[in-house]
Amino acid sequence: MRVSPEVWTLVWIVLFFNAMGCIQSIRCKPKSFRESISVLEVNSSIDPNPTSIDESSSVVLRYRTPHFRASARVLVPPVAGKETWTVGWIQACNHMEFYNKYGNKGMSSWELPDLRDGKIHAISDSDGVNYPWYGNTTETCTIVGPTKKDTRFTVSMNDNFYPSVTWGVPVSDSNVPQLSSIRRDQSFTTWLVAIHQGTGETLVLQTVRWRMQLHIAVDPDKPLGQRARLCDPVAQEQPQVLVKNEAIPANAMVKPNANDAQVLMWRPKTGDPIVVIPPKY
Ligand SMILES: *[C@@H]1O[C@H](CO)[C@@H](O)[C@H](O)[C@H]1NC(C)=O
Ligand SMILES: *[C@@H]1O[C@H](CO)[C@@H](O)[C@H](O)[C@H]1NC(C)=O
Repeated sequence: MRVSPEVWTLVWIVLFFNAMGCIQSIRCKPKSFRESISVLEVNSSIDPNPTSIDESSSVVLRYRTPHFRASARVLVPPVAGKETWTVGWIQACNHMEFYNKYGNKGMSSWELPDLRDGKIHAISDSDGVNYPWYGNTTETCTIVGPTKKDTRFTVSMNDNFYPSVTWGVPVSDSNVPQLSSIRRDQSFTTWLVAIHQGTGETLVLQTVRWRMQLHIAVDPDKPLGQRARLCDPVAQEQPQVLVKNEAIPANAMVKPNANDAQVLMWRPKTGDPIVVIPPKY
């Protein structure tokens, strides 16, 4: 069939306007709200100071690790309706080894039983009040709509360990110092998240992984004040801000948190382990 030039012209005109229409609709289509919450800047580090050790008590050794810190500058575009969004930090513990050795007697260890047994792969590290958030002071910011302009703010969090470890075996009445070493290796995932307060819609904006490793050698026969020595690693690995975000596991969002789930075990060299401090929940 022969097509007349007039028809071809018409076909081209229709195709042209269709194409224009497509381009127009792509360009003009409003970005969804989730696409336009933006992280302007994110910083994360572990302070360079080494762990400090305090031997001032005759009952316990105390140590204080350097701080992990994360902060982010965030832009939330105008919120059209009566919606409320909270943006902030959520943290979960993925791995915990925390052993205190007492010569040839055995060791005490803080354990997260479900994590230890591989039943879960993360446990909330919320403050225990503001689930799922790590805290509710500098850690979160809540935007109550409607707002006419962009909202810009910084949310930040920090974490460190400051425990006490008894010089004597925890299950005995004896105060004789026998603590001979402390080893710790813990891993965490920390997410910057936006949550819609009405629907619970959860947007992961950033994911950070970090680890704290510690080894303290102790000579219990030395006088108080001269027993402990910090071994490698003196400096910690720096946190990693992931290029690709990770989804938040369900256990990172709900009770119990690590603090309430942890148990202190006594694991003697021979014989059955004993629960010294049961979980709080
Ligand atoms: C990130 O670190 C830089 C350099 O220290 C600082 O100027 C900036 O304010 C920090 N940003 C945030 C969001 O903390
Ligand atoms: C933080 O949470 C506590 C406990 O729910 C509450 O009493 C306090 O008012 C909250 N603070 C802020 C700044 O939201």
